[in-house]
Amino acid sequence: MAVIEVKNFTKSFGSKKVHRGVNLSVEPGECLGLIGGSGVGKSVILRSLIGLEKPDSGEIFIDGEEISGWTERQLVEIRKKVAYVFQNGALFDSMTVYDNLAYPLREHTPLTEKEIGERIHSQLEEFGLLGNHSVYPSQLSGGMQKRVGLARSIIMGPKVVLYDEPTAGLDPYNTKKIQEMILRLKARGVTSVFVTHDMPSVYAVCDRIALLLNGEIQASGTVQDLERDPEGLMQRFINGIEGA
Ligand SMILES: Nc1ncnc2c1ncn2[C@@H]1O[C@H](COP(=O)(O)OP(=O)(O)OP(=O)(O)O)[C@@H](O)[C@H]1O
Ligand SMILES: [Mg+2]
Repeated sequence: MAVIEVKNFTKSFGSKKVHRGVNLSVEPGECLGLIGGSGVGKSVILRSLIGLEKPDSGEIFIDGEEISGWTERQLVEIRKKVAYVFQNGALFDSMTVYDNLAYPLREHTPLTEKEIGERIHSQLEEFGLLGNHSVYPSQLSGGMQKRVGLARSIIMGPKVVLYDEPTAGLDPYNTKKIQEMILRLKARGVTSVFVTHDMPSVYAVCDRIALLLNGEIQASGTVQDLERDPEGLMQRFINGIEGA
Protein backbone atom coordinates (compact mmCIF):
# COMPACT_ATOMS: atom_id res chain seq x y z
CA MET A 1 0.00 0.00 0.00
CA ALA A 2 1.23 3.50 -0.83
CA VAL A 3 2.24 5.65 2.16
CA ILE A 4 1.01 8.79 0.40
CA GLU A 5 -1.72 8.87 -2.18
CA VAL A 6 -3.27 12.00 -3.66
CA LYS A 7 -6.33 11.51 -5.87
CA ASN A 8 -7.90 14.11 -8.15
CA PHE A 9 -6.73 16.99 -5.94
CA THR A 10 -8.16 20.33 -7.00
CA LYS A 11 -7.65 23.73 -5.42
CA SER A 12 -8.26 27.32 -6.43
CA PHE A 13 -7.21 30.58 -4.83
CA GLY A 14 -9.80 33.19 -5.73
CA SER A 15 -10.47 32.80 -9.41
CA LYS A 16 -7.12 31.13 -9.99
CA LYS A 17 -7.43 27.41 -10.50
CA VAL A 18 -4.06 26.10 -9.35
CA HIS A 19 -4.64 22.32 -9.14
CA ARG A 20 -6.88 20.74 -11.76
CA GLY A 21 -6.76 17.14 -10.59
CA VAL A 22 -3.40 16.09 -9.20
CA ASN A 23 -2.74 12.37 -8.78
CA LEU A 24 0.36 11.00 -7.17
CA SER A 25 1.46 8.21 -4.89
CA VAL A 26 4.59 7.44 -2.94
CA GLU A 27 5.49 3.88 -1.96
CA PRO A 28 7.05 2.87 1.38
CA GLY A 29 10.68 3.96 1.57
CA GLU A 30 10.52 5.81 -1.72
CA CYS A 31 11.71 9.38 -2.29
CA LEU A 32 9.59 11.18 -4.88
CA GLY A 33 11.03 14.35 -6.43
CA LEU A 34 8.24 16.84 -7.17
CA ILE A 35 9.32 19.47 -9.66
CA GLY A 36 7.54 22.22 -11.56
CA GLY A 37 7.75 25.95 -12.24
CA SER A 38 7.40 28.66 -9.61
CA GLY A 39 3.83 29.09 -8.42
CA VAL A 40 2.59 25.85 -9.94
CA GLY A 41 1.39 24.62 -6.54
CA LYS A 42 4.09 22.30 -5.16
CA SER A 43 4.18 23.80 -1.65
CA VAL A 44 0.37 23.77 -1.43
CA ILE A 45 0.44 20.04 -2.10
CA LEU A 46 3.04 19.44 0.60
CA ARG A 47 1.08 21.56 3.08
CA SER A 48 -2.06 19.60 2.23
CA LEU A 49 -0.33 16.36 3.14
CA ILE A 50 -0.23 17.46 6.79
CA GLY A 51 -3.60 19.18 6.69
CA LEU A 52 -2.35 22.79 6.63
CA GLU A 53 -4.44 23.26 3.47
CA LYS A 54 -7.62 21.49 2.40
CA PRO A 55 -8.34 20.46 -1.17
CA ASP A 56 -11.47 21.88 -2.82
CA SER A 57 -12.11 18.34 -4.03
CA GLY A 58 -10.21 15.09 -4.17
CA GLU A 59 -8.68 12.83 -1.55
CA ILE A 60 -5.45 12.58 0.41
CA PHE A 61 -4.49 9.25 1.94
CA ILE A 62 -1.68 8.89 4.48
CA ASP A 63 -1.05 5.24 5.35
CA GLY A 64 -4.42 4.44 3.82
CA GLU A 65 -6.37 6.98 5.90
CA GLU A 66 -8.18 9.80 4.13
CA ILE A 67 -7.18 12.96 6.04
CA SER A 68 -8.65 15.87 4.10
CA GLY A 69 -11.75 16.00 6.30
CA TRP A 70 -9.87 15.60 9.58
CA THR A 71 -10.12 18.07 12.44
CA GLU A 72 -7.07 19.91 13.82
CA ARG A 73 -7.10 17.51 16.76
CA GLN A 74 -6.96 14.45 14.52
CA LEU A 75 -4.25 16.06 12.41
CA VAL A 76 -1.92 16.23 15.42
CA GLU A 77 -1.41 12.48 14.93
CA ILE A 78 -0.52 12.92 11.25
CA ARG A 79 1.99 15.66 12.12
CA LYS A 80 3.81 13.28 14.46
CA LYS A 81 4.15 10.79 11.64
CA VAL A 82 4.81 13.24 8.80
CA ALA A 83 7.50 15.92 9.20
CA TYR A 84 7.52 19.06 7.07
CA VAL A 85 10.91 20.66 6.47
CA PHE A 86 10.22 24.33 5.83
CA GLN A 87 12.29 26.18 3.30
CA ASN A 88 13.75 28.69 5.77
CA GLY A 89 14.45 26.20 8.54
CA ALA A 90 11.71 27.84 10.66
CA LEU A 91 13.88 27.91 13.78
CA PHE A 92 12.89 29.90 16.86
CA ASP A 93 15.29 32.86 16.89
CA SER A 94 15.10 33.37 20.64
CA MET A 95 16.10 29.77 21.41
CA THR A 96 19.48 28.08 21.20
CA VAL A 97 20.02 25.20 18.79
CA TYR A 98 19.62 22.83 21.73
CA ASP A 99 16.29 24.33 22.80
CA ASN A 100 15.06 24.38 19.21
CA LEU A 101 15.66 20.65 18.96
CA ALA A 102 14.34 19.99 22.44
CA TYR A 103 11.09 21.88 21.81
CA PRO A 104 9.13 19.16 19.94
CA LEU A 105 10.40 16.50 22.32
CA ARG A 106 9.34 18.49 25.40
CA GLU A 107 5.95 19.25 23.85
CA HIS A 108 5.05 15.87 22.44
CA THR A 109 6.92 13.14 24.30
CA PRO A 110 7.21 11.98 27.90
CA LEU A 111 11.02 11.85 27.64
CA THR A 112 13.05 13.14 30.59
CA GLU A 113 15.50 16.04 30.12
CA LYS A 114 18.34 13.53 30.29
CA GLU A 115 16.81 11.40 27.52
CA ILE A 116 16.11 14.52 25.47
CA GLY A 117 19.73 15.56 25.87
CA GLU A 118 20.92 12.17 24.67
CA ARG A 119 18.59 12.19 21.68
CA ILE A 120 19.75 15.69 20.68
CA HIS A 121 23.40 14.77 21.11
CA SER A 122 23.13 11.72 18.87
CA GLN A 123 21.13 13.61 16.26
CA LEU A 124 23.64 16.47 16.13
CA GLU A 125 26.48 13.97 15.98
CA GLU A 126 24.90 11.98 13.18
CA PHE A 127 24.40 15.09 11.08
CA GLY A 128 27.80 16.64 11.78
CA LEU A 129 26.39 19.48 13.84
CA LEU A 130 28.07 18.86 17.21
CA GLY A 131 29.44 21.89 19.02
CA ASN A 132 26.45 24.08 18.23
CA HIS A 133 24.29 23.37 21.28
CA SER A 134 24.30 26.83 22.80
CA VAL A 135 24.42 28.86 19.60
CA TYR A 136 21.44 31.00 18.49
CA PRO A 137 20.14 30.66 14.91
CA SER A 138 21.21 34.22 14.03
CA GLN A 139 24.81 33.22 14.77
CA LEU A 140 24.67 30.44 12.17
CA SER A 141 25.07 30.71 8.41
CA GLY A 142 21.99 30.12 6.26
CA GLY A 143 23.30 26.69 5.32
CA MET A 144 23.79 25.68 8.95
CA GLN A 145 20.32 27.02 9.85
CA LYS A 146 18.81 24.78 7.19
CA ARG A 147 20.70 21.77 8.44
CA VAL A 148 19.61 22.45 12.03
CA GLY A 149 16.05 22.99 10.74
CA LEU A 150 16.13 19.60 9.09
CA ALA A 151 17.56 18.01 12.23
CA ARG A 152 14.73 19.52 14.28
CA SER A 153 12.04 18.45 11.82
CA ILE A 154 13.04 14.82 12.10
CA ILE A 155 13.90 14.57 15.78
CA MET A 156 10.58 12.87 16.55
CA GLY A 157 11.54 10.00 14.23
CA PRO A 158 8.92 10.56 11.52
CA LYS A 159 7.88 7.89 9.08
CA VAL A 160 7.44 10.43 6.27
CA VAL A 161 9.42 13.61 5.57
CA LEU A 162 8.30 16.39 3.22
CA TYR A 163 11.16 18.57 2.06
CA ASP A 164 10.28 21.98 0.63
CA GLU A 165 13.31 23.25 -1.28
CA PRO A 166 15.78 22.18 1.41
CA THR A 167 18.81 23.08 -0.72
CA ALA A 168 17.62 26.39 -2.20
CA GLY A 169 20.35 29.01 -2.03
CA LEU A 170 22.93 26.70 -0.48
CA ASP A 171 26.58 26.35 -1.44
CA PRO A 172 27.81 22.98 -2.75
CA TYR A 173 29.10 21.87 0.67
CA ASN A 174 25.83 22.49 2.52
CA THR A 175 23.85 21.07 -0.41
CA LYS A 176 25.87 17.87 -0.16
CA LYS A 177 25.35 17.75 3.61
CA ILE A 178 21.57 18.03 3.12
CA GLN A 179 21.65 15.31 0.44
CA GLU A 180 23.56 13.08 2.86
CA MET A 181 21.04 13.73 5.63
CA ILE A 182 18.20 12.80 3.26
CA LEU A 183 19.96 9.65 2.07
CA ARG A 184 20.63 8.61 5.65
CA LEU A 185 16.93 8.93 6.50
CA LYS A 186 16.02 7.04 3.36
CA ALA A 187 18.36 4.23 4.34
CA ARG A 188 16.36 4.04 7.57
CA GLY A 189 13.17 3.49 5.57
CA VAL A 190 11.74 7.01 5.65
CA THR A 191 9.30 7.79 2.83
CA SER A 192 9.64 11.29 1.39
CA VAL A 193 8.59 13.93 -1.09
CA PHE A 194 11.33 16.29 -2.20
CA VAL A 195 10.16 19.57 -3.76
CA THR A 196 12.92 21.49 -5.46
CA HIS A 197 14.36 23.27 -8.48
CA ASP A 198 17.75 21.71 -7.73
CA MET A 199 18.03 18.92 -10.29
CA PRO A 200 21.44 17.57 -9.20
CA SER A 201 19.94 16.94 -5.75
CA VAL A 202 16.92 15.23 -7.34
CA TYR A 203 19.25 12.88 -9.17
CA ALA A 204 21.26 12.32 -5.97
CA VAL A 205 18.37 11.41 -3.66
CA CYS A 206 15.14 10.62 -5.56
CA ASP A 207 13.89 7.28 -6.86
CA ARG A 208 11.22 8.81 -9.04
CA ILE A 209 10.38 12.28 -10.36
CA ALA A 210 6.97 13.83 -11.01
CA LEU A 211 6.40 17.02 -12.98
CA LEU A 212 3.55 19.34 -11.95
CA LEU A 213 2.54 21.45 -14.90
CA ASN A 214 -0.69 23.36 -15.55
CA GLY A 215 -2.34 21.93 -12.46
CA GLU A 216 -1.65 18.26 -13.15
CA ILE A 217 1.14 15.72 -12.90
CA GLN A 218 1.97 15.58 -16.57
CA ALA A 219 4.99 13.30 -16.46
CA SER A 220 6.61 10.95 -14.00
CA GLY A 221 9.25 8.29 -14.04
CA THR A 222 12.58 7.11 -12.72
CA VAL A 223 15.84 8.83 -13.58
CA GLN A 224 16.54 5.91 -15.94
CA ASP A 225 13.17 6.46 -17.65
CA LEU A 226 14.17 10.07 -18.26
CA GLU A 227 17.47 9.14 -19.78
CA ARG A 228 15.66 6.79 -22.14
CA ASP A 229 13.38 9.58 -23.33
CA PRO A 230 15.50 12.69 -23.95
CA GLU A 231 12.73 14.32 -26.01
CA GLY A 232 10.05 13.72 -23.34
CA LEU A 233 8.15 16.49 -21.54
CA MET A 234 10.09 16.00 -18.28
CA GLN A 235 13.43 16.37 -20.01
CA ARG A 236 12.21 19.39 -21.96
CA PHE A 237 11.09 21.01 -18.69
CA ILE A 238 14.42 20.24 -17.02
CA ASN A 239 16.27 21.72 -19.97
CA GLY A 240 14.19 24.89 -19.83
CA ILE A 241 12.47 24.25 -23.14
CA GLU A 242 8.99 23.61 -21.75
CA GLY A 243 7.71 26.38 -19.50
CA ALA A 244 5.99 26.73 -16.19
N1 LIG B 1 -2.77 31.11 1.04
C1 LIG B 1 -2.82 31.48 -0.25
N2 LIG B 1 -3.62 32.47 -0.66
C2 LIG B 1 -3.69 32.82 -1.95
N3 LIG B 1 -2.98 32.24 -2.93
C3 LIG B 1 -2.16 31.26 -2.57
C4 LIG B 1 -2.03 30.82 -1.22
N4 LIG B 1 -1.14 29.80 -1.17
C5 LIG B 1 -0.72 29.62 -2.45
N5 LIG B 1 -1.33 30.49 -3.28
C6 LIG B 1 -1.13 30.56 -4.73
O1 LIG B 1 -1.12 29.25 -5.23
C7 LIG B 1 -0.12 29.11 -6.23
C8 LIG B 1 0.80 27.97 -5.88
O2 LIG B 1 1.58 28.31 -4.77
P1 LIG B 1 2.75 27.39 -4.23
O3 LIG B 1 3.37 28.14 -3.11
O4 LIG B 1 2.25 26.03 -3.95
O5 LIG B 1 3.73 27.34 -5.49
P2 LIG B 1 5.11 26.55 -5.66
O6 LIG B 1 4.96 25.59 -6.76
O7 LIG B 1 5.53 26.02 -4.33
O8 LIG B 1 6.10 27.72 -6.14
P3 LIG B 1 7.68 27.95 -5.79
O9 LIG B 1 8.45 27.01 -6.65
O10 LIG B 1 7.89 29.38 -6.21
O11 LIG B 1 7.85 27.76 -4.32
C9 LIG B 1 0.57 30.46 -6.34
O12 LIG B 1 0.04 31.14 -7.43
C10 LIG B 1 0.22 31.16 -5.06
O13 LIG B 1 0.13 32.54 -5.25
MG1 LIG C 1 7.02 26.48 -3.00
